[in-house]
Amino acid sequence: MSVTRPTAPFGTAIVTGASSGIGKVYADRLAQRGYDVLLVARREDRLRAIAADLQERFAIQADVLVADLSIAAGVAAVADRIADDPAVSMLINNAGFSALRPLAETPDEVIPRMIALNVTALTTLSKAALVAFTAKGAGTIVNVGSGAGFAPYPGIPVYGATKAYVYLFTRSLQNEAEGTHVRVQLLLPGAVVSEGWDVAGGGALERLPEAIVMTTEDCVDAALNGLDRQEAVTAPSLHDEALFHDYEAGSAALLQGMFDAKPADRYRLIR
Ligand SMILES: NC(=O)c1ccc[n+]([C@@H]2O[C@H](COP(=O)([O-])OP(=O)(O)OC[C@H]3O[C@@H](n4cnc5c(N)ncnc54)[C@H](OP(=O)(O)O)[C@@H]3O)[C@@H](O)[C@H]2O)c1
Repeated sequence: MSVTRPTAPFGTAIVTGASSGIGKVYADRLAQRGYDVLLVARREDRLRAIAADLQERFAIQADVLVADLSIAAGVAAVADRIADDPAVSMLINNAGFSALRPLAETPDEVIPRMIALNVTALTTLSKAALVAFTAKGAGTIVNVGSGAGFAPYPGIPVYGATKAYVYLFTRSLQNEAEGTHVRVQLLLPGAVVSEGWDVAGGGALERLPEAIVMTTEDCVDAALNGLDRQEAVTAPSLHDEALFHDYEAGSAALLQGMFDAKPADRYRLIR
């Protein structure tokens, strides 16, 4: 007789980049909330240890999908799971990395790999989830951007731009999902203690004032609090919400102002 395990009431949350940092805490908190979890990253040993721990502590199902999301085959493996497994109810698009170097000193291979992970994988998986969740009338997508995506910041020319993409892409995705039962949350962490700073190199975390660096636990707890409060955009470190609203109002006005058949007066040719 085959014994079927009851499906978790919340379904399965896929967490990319679950082997450390923010993703690892997401996996922990979602398992605690009663989700089954599918942990995605490249380091299988870590994923298996985390999965075993979550199963033990929270009596949920924790599975592992070892995938390099900077290559198409890795992204396809996760997209297929989203399309084929009706239990999948949440996607945390968290995997990402940074390199703290000026462009001229950034190794050639790092650039396409960063764009592939931070931009292409996140976009492809968002689409897979949007399609699957729209078809079944429910689901949540969380895209992890960054405060670093709002203005040029020295030393992160490619990373900052990938996160600017995550911001604009996710805001557009939210427009597209309006009127469906698919929820899309944009998470904008500030500076968060994680191994990501070691990956980025340069010992930058140690040089930041303690007062501006958040723990991964506080970041994820605030993110889930924002999700519970139906927030579209959650910026855990941002105390003055007006700054974000003013930014968006300014960019909406700029968008309007950008389109006109006539060149602006300052470009009028003096003959
Ligand atoms: N820490 C911060 O201050 C901060 C601030 C704003 C935004 N963020 C964003 O938060 C997210 C998580 O970063 P974190 O700070 O938690 O860094 P982290 O501890 O380095 O975690 C990054 C995760 O992504 C996974 N990953 C990296 N490359 C991958 C690949 N090619 N394929 C699949 N998985 C890959 C890593 O696992 P494997 O190495 O095992 O593959 C790891 O699980 C990123 O999107 C980052 O940009 C971080």
